[in-house]
Amino acid sequence: MKIRRTPPWGNIPSSEITPEQTYLSRRKFMREALFLAGGALALAACATSGGGGIAQAGQAGPTPEPDTLNTFEQITNFNNYYEFTTDKEGVASEAANFPTSPWQVSVEGMVSKPGVFDIDQIRKQFPAEERIYRLRCVEGWSMVIPWQGFPLAALLRAVEPTSDAKYVKFTTIYDPADMPGQNSPFFPWPYVEGLRLDEAMNDLTILATGLYGKDLLPQNGAPLRLVVPWKYGFKSIKAIVKVELVADQPTSLWMASAPNEYGFYANVNPEVPHPRWSQSSERRIGESGRRPTLKFNGYGDQVAALYAGMDLKANY
Ligand code: MTE
Repeated sequence: MKIRRTPPWGNIPSSEITPEQTYLSRRKFMREALFLAGGALALAACATSGGGGIAQAGQAGPTPEPDTLNTFEQITNFNNYYEFTTDKEGVASEAANFPTSPWQVSVEGMVSKPGVFDIDQIRKQFPAEERIYRLRCVEGWSMVIPWQGFPLAALLRAVEPTSDAKYVKFTTIYDPADMPGQNSPFFPWPYVEGLRLDEAMNDLTILATGLYGKDLLPQNGAPLRLVVPWKYGFKSIKAIVKVELVADQPTSLWMASAPNEYGFYANVNPEVPHPRWSQSSERRIGESGRRPTLKFNGYGDQVAALYAGMDLKANY
């Protein structure tokens, strides 16, 4: 796979990341001017206060907390993918034979140039770059993942959204024969997610096709999944077959299932607890203890302006 070098949109030097050794040597990672996507400075400047107080970027904090890449094994063996099973450690084996080729993605709705894209065409037309992002699950665990992907904005520009388009709706494949979880009546399948158009166009928002330099495995959402690093992980929908530009705010699977617990925005926010648990800290997979959760998952410099004037408690 051809991988473009990551542009310096982030602000933490790679020397503050401790990547997996094998990956490091293979990719000569340390010699690259790779930057962890923004807000990592906030993380580096963040005190490990037990009370969950979070320093903002630019504020001094006594204890830098370096981000460490999670291992390939961790990232591919601890997953949320309800189409297969609710057992995080069982997703990899349940999804192992899920057919991800051939695969087509329809991009439609309020666009001037709708189209059905073959996944191979997507890979060619939109070259992958490397993005190292924190992933914070709403359940209170997190990882650091080196994705390969391309800005969603590139795909959207190619289809030319009309001026009526205000939101982007994403839909996972509906394939109950191959996805046993879709036979469960507890969820309104297929999995659906959505973003406001300006969130979708933000440079941090990517469609991922790989991680650790390899094509995505089924458990991580192969062949194409969304990654929105400042939002809880459930927004990062897997196995996408439809991207639709729409006028009205889409209702996600989680909003339909538990509207009091899961809203449309789902921005990572230590100040807004889930109705059943605090969001002030998280367990980084592979670490003992907990670390403070960062507002917007540490990407506030890039995305806080999207929510200027909004009540983030009401818009959870
Ligand atoms: N996408 C689909 N289609 N189905 C899912 O169950 N789970 C979400 C998200 N995308 C999910 C999904 C949740 S809750 C999380 S935390 C992330 O995927 C986990 O991604 P990972 O397994 O690659 O770490």
